[in-house]
Amino acid sequence: MTVDRERSVVFGSVAEEYDAARPDYPDQLVTDVLAYAPPGPVLEVGAGTGKATVSFAARGIDLTCVEPDPRMAARLSAKAPGVRVEIGIFEDFVPDRPFALLYAAQAWHWVDPDRRWDLAHAVLAPSGAVAVFWNQYVVTDPALRDELAAVDRRYDVTSSSLHRSREVRAEQAEHQLAGDPRYTDLEERHYERTDHYDAGRYLDLVRSISAYQMLDPGARETLLGEISALIGDGLDMTLTTDLALGRRAR
Ligand SMILES: C[S@@+](CC[C@H](N)C(=O)[O-])C[C@H]1O[C@@H](n2cnc3c(N)ncnc32)[C@H](O)[C@@H]1O
Repeated sequence: MTVDRERSVVFGSVAEEYDAARPDYPDQLVTDVLAYAPPGPVLEVGAGTGKATVSFAARGIDLTCVEPDPRMAARLSAKAPGVRVEIGIFEDFVPDRPFALLYAAQAWHWVDPDRRWDLAHAVLAPSGAVAVFWNQYVVTDPALRDELAAVDRRYDVTSSSLHRSREVRAEQAEHQLAGDPRYTDLEERHYERTDHYDAGRYLDLVRSISAYQMLDPGARETLLGEISALIGDGLDMTLTTDLALGRRAR
């Protein structure tokens, strides 16, 4: 399995839309992750524009963020001024101390799958925690979702999470950890809510997703026109945040 590097850094070109359109993470998740982890310095991998960072930083923790895209990092620094930001990929990050918690919001799948659990283990203190989580958002109405999925198929967009049933990445993460004796106390949690998106916000959300950003700009605009015709004034989304937790055993 490899990571599509070109695709992993397309977010910066739409940093503003990304920040406005992507949902935040539930406060309860932040509470649960910090309760699970021992006290001490915290590392966030792939912090982007700081959607999770702001909520974690508000809890008064000592937080370092790793983010490779300078445009995302600029927005992150503006939003979370007290946080240390290292520009670069996690694979190249050299820690200056052990961390009590490593978390990644919607970003762990971008880190080299053959090395990510080794790298996490290397930066964690003994008993340090790892928390990886993803927002899954699906269009609540199944008939509309099917129509939108048909548009995606016509444009060869096959990997968007918006118009198909849920893909639980946290479950995959937990399975990977379950086979690794260096991690223990594995847990999986889910946080569900619904949200109404008006048409403009929904189209921004679509624009912020890498599968659509990778399209030729002309094709993307035509696709957005088709989506717009289907959704009218807007739609309801079901948002679930899936969290996988583990602890360094040794
Ligand atoms: C989908 S965004 C998530 C951003 C933010 N955590 C959030 O929840 O909105 C994925 C982020 O991972 C970053 N990224 C991509 N490859 C990475 C890597 N190898 N190491 C660290 N971050 C990476 C991207 O630049 C991007 O900001």
